[in-house]
Amino acid sequence: MIQVLVTGANGQLGSEIKLISEETSIYKFYFTDYNELDITNKTAVENFVNKHAIHIIINCAAYTNVDKAEDEWELSNSINHKAVENLATISKEKSIKLIHISTDYVFDGESKTPYLETATTNPINNYGLSKLKGEEALLKINPKNSIIIRTSWLYSVFGSNFVKTMLRLFKEKDLLNVVSDQVGSPTNAKDLASAIFNIIPNLNNDRVEIFHYSNIGTCSWFQFAKEILAFSNETCDIKPVSSKEFKTKAKRPKFSILDTHKIQKVFNIQIPSWEESLHNCLIKINTK
Ligand SMILES: NC(=O)c1ccc[n+]([C@@H]2O[C@H](COP(=O)([O-])OP(=O)(O)OC[C@H]3O[C@@H](n4cnc5c(N)ncnc54)[C@H](OP(=O)(O)O)[C@@H]3O)[C@@H](O)[C@H]2O)c1
Repeated sequence: MIQVLVTGANGQLGSEIKLISEETSIYKFYFTDYNELDITNKTAVENFVNKHAIHIIINCAAYTNVDKAEDEWELSNSINHKAVENLATISKEKSIKLIHISTDYVFDGESKTPYLETATTNPINNYGLSKLKGEEALLKINPKNSIIIRTSWLYSVFGSNFVKTMLRLFKEKDLLNVVSDQVGSPTNAKDLASAIFNIIPNLNNDRVEIFHYSNIGTCSWFQFAKEILAFSNETCDIKPVSSKEFKTKAKRPKFSILDTHKIQKVFNIQIPSWEESLHNCLIKINTK
């Protein structure tokens, strides 16, 4: 049986993978998070993959607090860069296939057209820089049959994210200011998890390849919030504001749209629209 290690398994994406894994018996999954397997501990990872004869690693572990990363460079770099370097080295030595997840925040947001996988990277915050360094380390070490999937604006029934924050704030407030000058594509982690299941049997590449995955279609955070409100039973006024008016510790790219044609074509994947996927997630949240 194919043995798969999922790191960061209690996060949004890891939890969605766990849910889908219950429907398949082709793989034996090992779901680990920080407490079971700290990916910054190279020896622990080596011991784990040896003990369980791992064939595939899906690295869902990450430091994802974009604002805090401005003050915690060392920690974010150790998880998003150094640990990925370790995973890549171990994968190369053991011929393990590594699926690593990265982010739209490796780009500066100055583009006027959706970012291709080959577009120039230029992160504007520490989180994006640490994730880019992780990508670069993986590309350099180059374990066979390994890929990087960049995604954007991830949300899920699990964990904390924009969708759940909005649902909470709709209950607490009469008026919400939401940024309208940053555009991107929301991504339901469930869809990305299911894409990963389609990709695994088809990994066959000599050099590490980058792919982009997000739901289809684009919106601003303001439009995203309006759509969440439309599907909730709450009433709340949502006011569009500019990034200048809504200060955050870390700068965000204004334009975060990823071109997803490559992943659709290479792996024959159909990607749902962001609205359809959001509605599916909201139904699940409401019936939880
Ligand atoms: N969230 C987004 O909007 C977004 C957007 C684009 C790309 N991505 C990327 O997508 C991937 C999945 O994101 P996500 O939203 O599912 O992340 P998440 O919900 O924050 O989950 C990450 C998980 O990794 C765990 N973790 C942190 N440090 C670890 C360590 N040293 N060893 C093992 N586990 C550790 C975290 O534990 P703790 O919670 O205890 O720290 C958490 O359970 C990440 O690579 C992220 O960079 C996310």
